[in-house]
Parts: sequence; C-alpha cells; structure tokens
Amino acid sequence: MKDKKVLASVDELQDEGLAGSEGTWSGYHGRQKQISHRKEQWRNKFMVQSLWYRNLLRNPSEISALFPCSTETGNLMTHHLEGMGKGYVLELGSGMGAITECILKRQVPEEKLVLVEKNKEFAGYLTQKYQKANVIEEDATELLESLLTLQIREVAHVVCSLPLSLIPPEQQLVILDTVFKLLHPQGCFSLVTYLPSCPISQKILDQYSKSSELFGFTWKNIPPTYVYHLRHYQ
Ligand SMILES: C[S@@+](CC[C@H](N)C(=O)[O-])C[C@H]1O[C@@H](n2cnc3c(N)ncnc32)[C@H](O)[C@@H]1O
Repeated sequence: MKDKKVLASVDELQDEGLAGSEGTWSGYHGRQKQISHRKEQWRNKFMVQSLWYRNLLRNPSEISALFPCSTETGNLMTHHLEGMGKGYVLELGSGMGAITECILKRQVPEEKLVLVEKNKEFAGYLTQKYQKANVIEEDATELLESLLTLQIREVAHVVCSLPLSLIPPEQQLVILDTVFKLLHPQGCFSLVTYLPSCPISQKILDQYSKSSELFGFTWKNIPPTYVYHLRHYQ
C-alpha cells in the first residue's frame, strides 16, 4: 500500500524477465508483460485507496486520518524493534498495514505480529496480505480474550496508531490497562499523535510506573506527526 514506486525501471523489469531487447519477439512480449504488470500495479493501488476512502467516509472518527501513516512516521514508531529478538509485537489499529510494513522491515517475523483492527474490511485485507500474522478483528477494548485464545500472555512491544484522543476516556482506560498488563517490563509502547503532547496523562502512566518521551517528529506525514515512546520508569 505504501509502495509509491509504481513505475518500474526497465532494468528492474529485465531482472524480473519482463522486458527484452527492442525489435525482437522477446522484446515485444516483454513490453506486453511490462504494460500488464503496470496495469496490475495501478489496479492494486486504486483498489487499496478506494478501500481506505470508502471506510473513511463510513467511519470518519474511527479511521480519523485522511491518509495512512507515512513511512517516516512508521520508522519512528518502530525504531526500537530492530534486532529485538524474541517476543510478540502487538499493533493496535493496523488499518491497511502502513506501519505493519515498517515493523516487518525491522526483521520482526510475520508470525510474531498481532494485528488488532476493528474495521471488518481492513481486517479482511490484513488477513489476506499477512497470512502468517495473527490478525484480530476486534475492538481494542475486547482484545484480552482473543489473545488468551491465541495463548498470548505477554508481548515484547506495542505499536499504537489508534485515535486515542477520540476514544471515550473509560474505553481508553480499558485499552491501556490491557496493554500495560501484557507488555514486558522492558518493552516499549510507541504511539503516534498529531499534537505536541502525549495523549496519555502522566497521572495515568504513574499507575503503571511508566513515563513518556517524545521520540520524534516528522513533517513527512499529512498532517505532521509526533511519536511518543512509553517505557517503565528508569
Ligand atoms: C489513524 S488509522 C491508522 C491506520 C494505520 N495504522 C496507518 O498508520 O495507516 C486508525 C486505525 O485504528 C482503527 N481503530 C479505531 N478505533 C479502534 C478500536 N477501538 N479498536 C481497534 N481498532 C480501532 C481504525 O479502524 C483505523 O484503521
């Protein structure tokens, strides 16, 4: 979905066996394949974008973003996952996988991903795209039972792009309570927000002995984003 590079170079196509030399049969067939390859890429891009906007129109407060997160935001949210070793990564509000892609680029095995997404169509898309991952089509407030069914009692890290400030406070507390109970003591809860302050107050974080740190900011997102990392008191 985040693959903006739609037009492949001839070199790449030749590597894939899709292009041949000019004026030869293989060149002609290569060009035909090249055209259908590009058409397929445009079709996929269109399909993904229309799925996003259809659902945004239906549930604006749940999707709460005009565009999926950028790779730069995803990189800030997943920076600490590089070489993290064993354990599950729990992603809350996976949408259509923009941040999931960044988690996978950190060498986290797909089967160690737990993707929680309330939206039925997005969850279906994720299930198809990440066949080895554990996709949970559920409201994050109802997460615990599904995790226990999967026999997951602890997660190494949590990556969250839920629209926390739009979720009613009592539901926020249920989500945070679940997540902090599951999170390994050395684990990190990274979250993204459009405001220059952590959406979870220090008063609430104190109940779980956590503190928040502004980890990064990027203009390269519409709108620009702040990424916070929450960890156990140092
Ligand atoms: C801002 S979008 C982020 C999507 C994706 N991670 C990205 O970066 O492009 C928020 C996502 O959280 C999902 N969501 C909102 N409230 C939720 C809840 N209570 N439980 C689970 N998912 C929720 C929405 O359906 C949406 O896909």
